[in-house]
Amino acid sequence: MNPTDTADGFSPYPLQQVHRLIEPGPVVMISTFDGEHANLMTNGFNMPVSHDPPLIGLILGPWDHSHAALRDSGQCVIAIPSIDLAERVVDVGNTSGRDTDKWRRFGFTALPAATVNAPLVAECFANIECTVADDRLAKDHNLWILRAEHAWFDASRHGTGEFHHRGNGTFSANAAPLDLRHRMTKWRYLTRDLEDGTP
Ligand SMILES: Cc1cc2nc3c(=O)[nH]c(=O)nc-3n(C[C@H](O)[C@H](O)[C@H](O)COP(=O)(O)O)c2cc1C
Repeated sequence: MNPTDTADGFSPYPLQQVHRLIEPGPVVMISTFDGEHANLMTNGFNMPVSHDPPLIGLILGPWDHSHAALRDSGQCVIAIPSIDLAERVVDVGNTSGRDTDKWRRFGFTALPAATVNAPLVAECFANIECTVADDRLAKDHNLWILRAEHAWFDASRHGTGEFHHRGNGTFSANAAPLDLRHRMTKWRYLTRDLEDGTP
């Protein structure tokens, strides 16, 4: 079929922008430690890869100062901010740790992690301590498969929850939740709340 023979109502969409059509994971910050300095960067391209073992895919490229620290230490923390931190989080993603202490400049507080050298971010509602489980696609695609080693959740900081990048500098907050757990008949075990009520 000729690609111009499109169905009624559709028009071509630019391939370089298809990422805007795919729901990315929440906007997160990646904390790293290079042996001397802790750094923070912003990340919107991330996805769960496996429940068990708990693996997360993350795109992080050599244009980021954080890249060398992740590559050399094999560790990082994924910190998940609530939407009230959005402006500072975007500023973190528009500044480089090469020449700036972003913790100080944007008012984030480093806390020691349990299993990795990179610090947790106190202001975020969740922090996931990770090690690099697989870097085979890092060279070609900047894709790192991370294994969650320890995770922290602070319900008091959850607020209205995480936010998402729409790919062009605009962001969406979580919409009103739609509870379809009763239809998840094949995947019932995924729908259980944590024992303490954490979502
Ligand atoms: C909303 C937003 C999302 C971003 N997503 C990513 C991403 O998924 N992967 C990436 O490598 N960089 C991403 N960046 C860019 C980095 O955060 C940016 O290059 C940052 O300055 C890197 O900091 P560093 O040089 O201190 O490591 C994003 C930036 C913003 C503002």
